[in-house]
Amino acid sequence: MGYKEAYEAWAADPCMFWAQAAEALDWIKPPQTVLDDSRAPIFAWYPDGVMNTCWNAVDRHVEAGRGRQAAIIYDSPVTATKRTITYAELLAQVARLGGALRSRGVEKGDRVVIYMPMVPEALIAMLACARIGAVHSVVFGGFAAHELAVRIDDAKPKAIIAGSCGIEPGRVVPYKPLLDGAIQQAGHKPEFCAIFQREQQPAELGERDVEWFAFQRGVEPAECVPVSGDEPLYILYTSGTTGQPKGVPRPSAGHAVALCWTMKNIYDIDPGDVCWTASDVGWVVGHSYICYAPLLHGATTVLFEGKPVGTPDAGTFWRVISEHGVKVLFTAPTAFRAIKRVDPKGEFIRKHDLNCLKYLFLAGERADPDTIHWAQDMLGVPVIDHWWQTETGWTIAGNPMGLEPLPVKVGSACVPMPGYDLRILGEDGHELPRGELGAIAIKLPMPPGCLQTLWQAEERYRDSYLKRFSGSYDTSDAGIIDEDGYVYVMARTDDVINVAGHRLSTGAIEEVLSALPDVAECAVIGVADELKGQLPMGFLCLNCGVDRPQEEIVEEAIAQVRSQIGPVAAFKLACVVERLPKTRSGKILRGTMAKISDGEEFKMPATIDDPAILEEIQDAVERLGYGDSRDHETRP
Ligand code: COA
Ligand code: AMP
Repeated sequence: MGYKEAYEAWAADPCMFWAQAAEALDWIKPPQTVLDDSRAPIFAWYPDGVMNTCWNAVDRHVEAGRGRQAAIIYDSPVTATKRTITYAELLAQVARLGGALRSRGVEKGDRVVIYMPMVPEALIAMLACARIGAVHSVVFGGFAAHELAVRIDDAKPKAIIAGSCGIEPGRVVPYKPLLDGAIQQAGHKPEFCAIFQREQQPAELGERDVEWFAFQRGVEPAECVPVSGDEPLYILYTSGTTGQPKGVPRPSAGHAVALCWTMKNIYDIDPGDVCWTASDVGWVVGHSYICYAPLLHGATTVLFEGKPVGTPDAGTFWRVISEHGVKVLFTAPTAFRAIKRVDPKGEFIRKHDLNCLKYLFLAGERADPDTIHWAQDMLGVPVIDHWWQTETGWTIAGNPMGLEPLPVKVGSACVPMPGYDLRILGEDGHELPRGELGAIAIKLPMPPGCLQTLWQAEERYRDSYLKRFSGSYDTSDAGIIDEDGYVYVMARTDDVINVAGHRLSTGAIEEVLSALPDVAECAVIGVADELKGQLPMGFLCLNCGVDRPQEEIVEEAIAQVRSQIGPVAAFKLACVVERLPKTRSGKILRGTMAKISDGEEFKMPATIDDPAILEEIQDAVERLGYGDSRDHETRP
């Protein structure tokens, strides 16, 4: 079946399509209802099916004879460690940790926050939660105590699993003081914390803490707990317009079905193949394609701890690919920009045998044409851009390599996947003709695996995603669909920015800045950056009578964002201004500021090739008010 046939089959009978896809799973009780639309616009896929994600990702492969196959290849140049974990070993470790959690009272439905660096124990912790039906919430290690505290207060975990430290180039990042600080700040207190001690910096344990191995000693391994299809497997927090992140709950069965479908059809991966997603388990890409999808499909996942350059050199990616026989590499364009910058001629690439590599997939931010062309020339494999969000958990638009490779159009994330009915809508919600730029909306229901609400915040879900366009999900991305049905994702329509493939809320940074004693008001916008795509830049208006040196205030502002939000905010640009441009109603004109900060010409972060189209897009983006506060959540 080719792409067109698959898309048409889905469009003709979505329930039949997703019922067939669901056959890829082992069910404890197969679903009778594929889609429950009785509470539309809140939907549920496979609500009466019963399954367990860990069983499908681990146990069933051991039963089927894959016990000795590598499940995880851990490669950590920053600690000079390599380790292979087979499916049988993974099963034993996951069952033991699940048993330990249970022995301390963690039950089905309880939340467990995971705050770990890129070590196999992070995946083991996720799977152990899945095994016992506990709902994990992984928090990215680059977030600091305050952000962790906000997530603890929202998820209300019974337990936290954390590593003692992370490793960043040239420094060890102690996680335990950040964790302790977060628990101190949070209103909710977990009952206990299981700490995985790393030799680079073991942590001092307190009364609430228990050491990882001691925690698991002598426990009965846990069996897989039956979970209903629409119960959440995990909650992943993501940035919105305000400082309060959105908790995206991932429905268990829909997630497993959708990810299984993507492995062959989109990524062309077969069971036993090796795939490497160079991201972090703290992001959705890491949840889906470092952890769950490869394991659900019986493939081998590479877990890489390090950076693309400097660990030890710009050849690290190529060494990992050739050493482990990686067939598919998936990363963010920013990683390739980093490599290209230090190895523009690809000298490090030529030192390695990359015959095993068949595809490079890019996502997380707009893939700029330069990077795509460079990667294509250097690697000689298809470079596939695809578009998705934390909310969807898998590809909205992409080029389905296993189903049918379609011609690549540089600048486009290709075509909508089965499950997604995309519309380009104007301000008033009417559908725009092909080739015109507008808001990208997805006609409801969203396919299996996508969010169907926000964690304990259904009203916020309706307000943020469903209110703007009746009957559709608002992606908060603006774009174009061309005559051939190709989708071009051009810009966010809200105040979210994308820094090195990481999604950040300018509102969250503004909240930190406006709490500074000398700051009367402030605005944060994204400015174009060659390496990271965008960088946040802060503008500070000071209170009358403040006579401290401005540099001191700027330094304080930068330090405060780093300590409150974390280094991942990459907040290094700030300046003091007399006043901020505002509308008559007092709204700050962030779009205007973005234009000014980029010079005379308004520059999009990256564009499609034709300058005429570009000009049109820029005009239209201006009309849409790109950069202005457009999310439907309240923001002053
Ligand atoms: N724990 C603690 N600190 C972290 C961290 C973690 N898990 N992850 C990042 N940081 C820190 C970095 O050390 C850096 O600190 P610095 O300001 O002291 O230099 C800061 O957060 C910003 O990190 P980042 O934006 O990642 O910049 P970088 O210069 O360290 O690396 C890239 C840039 C492009 C090499 C890197 O972001 C990358 O490989 N990205 C591609 C893959 C990816 O992560 N995609 C995300 C979704 S697909
Ligand atoms: P996240 O939720 O962190 O995965 O970020 C999702 C956002 O990143 C999307 O809403 C887009 O704005 C952007 N994004 C992700 N992938 C792409 C892509 N292939 N092209 C353009 N933008 C992308």
